[in-house]
Amino acid sequence: MIKKVFILVLSITLFSCGNQFSEKEQLEYTKKGKEIAQASFKELSTNLKTQMKAGGPAKAIPFCKEEALPILAELSEKHNATIKRSSDQLRSCKIEPALRELDIIHAYKQSKSQQKELKPIVEIDNEGNKHFYSPILIKSQCLVCHGKVNETMTVQTDSIIKSIYPFDIATGYSEGDVRGIWSITFNK
Ligand code: HEC
Repeated sequence: MIKKVFILVLSITLFSCGNQFSEKEQLEYTKKGKEIAQASFKELSTNLKTQMKAGGPAKAIPFCKEEALPILAELSEKHNATIKRSSDQLRSCKIEPALRELDIIHAYKQSKSQQKELKPIVEIDNEGNKHFYSPILIKSQCLVCHGKVNETMTVQTDSIIKSIYPFDIATGYSEGDVRGIWSITFNK
């Protein structure tokens, strides 16, 4: 009996010291991740607004193609993390969603369809990397370039997008849809 209890305690201890966050770390990394995701969203959307004002989608779309990834690379360096936007319906061919990211996107989509709250996720992978994930939802201002063609998005904008991204599948969204996720990996 004592032996069994000992083994049980030992295995619980080993398990909790393994690839798991303590409660304190979980809060800490959730807070950090949220801050980074918010700062990144702000930076991208401020730039996007400036471009839209200056020349509409014809100017903003090529801007996104050239600058979205460099902006995120710069923010990654600043925040000592790798900041990535991932999606199951991609526009950019430079983004490759990891299997874990796709799982999380699908789980968020399911929660959304069941009207459940979409909470950020923090976890440690088998290699000991610390991750933060949170949903990216479609807002009304996203529809110009991610909406439904002929409804919330013009044919003209769609053709600009198709000329730059022939394999684009990032349209057809409605407000509130899960567009993808922030996938942030903290540097060790
Ligand atoms: C002016 C058009 C435009 C608007 C408005 C716009 N996007 Fe995009 N979006 C793009 C382009 C172009 C890309 C591809 C960027 C690249 O090549 O790296 C993109 C890529 C993305 C990606 C990365 C995944 C992928 O498919 O490449 C996400 C996530 C995303 N957009 C979400 C949003 C959200 C959320 C909004 C609203 C807050 C928004 N976008 C508004 C044009 C736009």
